[in-house]
Amino acid sequence: MKPHLEVLITEEQIAQRVKEMASEIRAEVGPEPLILLCVLKGAFPFLADLSRALDGDVRVDFVQTSSYAGGRSSSGAVRIVKDHEIDITGHHVVIVEDIVDTGLTLAYLRELLSTRQPKSLRVASFLSKPEAHQHENLADFIGFEIPKKFVVGYGLDDGELYRNLPYVAVLSESAP
Ligand code: IMP
Ligand code: MG
Repeated sequence: MKPHLEVLITEEQIAQRVKEMASEIRAEVGPEPLILLCVLKGAFPFLADLSRALDGDVRVDFVQTSSYAGGRSSSGAVRIVKDHEIDITGHHVVIVEDIVDTGLTLAYLRELLSTRQPKSLRVASFLSKPEAHQHENLADFIGFEIPKKFVVGYGLDDGELYRNLPYVAVLSESAP
């Protein structure tokens, strides 16, 4: 079986939508300083593009959670393997995620980070699979809603591959 990639969202569509999202975020959060918390590893291209599209004072920091253990479906348990270093107390924070699938990761992160008393806490997710959600009100800003299929590219991986693709593609196995 050979992996087959079918383009779902093009590089041009991504570039346009990410700029729109930056405007949506500023319109809602206002002009005050902002901390972007990138969820590693998948959100790194989204963070890079979103941060450069945002005006005003922007800080970036990184968190890493573990739940998938390299597989294609969630194990259900979430834990922090790398915490942020900037103090978020009293600051506007936006969690920057690659994709909301079941929503377990985000539900956990939202709860944990809100105990650290940010001035506001919002979530910007590049992708969302509404059919797979097990939690409600997960993301405040969503780039694209997609069907419940396994996608790669623009940060999203399959066994650490494909993160560098500039577009998003549905990954399937096709007969050789
Ligand atoms: P959740 O906790 O089920 O919402 O899963 C979130 C994490 O699962 C994301 O941050 C991704 O790393 C991973 N994930 C979910 N769906 C996909 C996919 O279609 N392709 C690649 N990774 C995915
Ligand atoms: Mg992943």
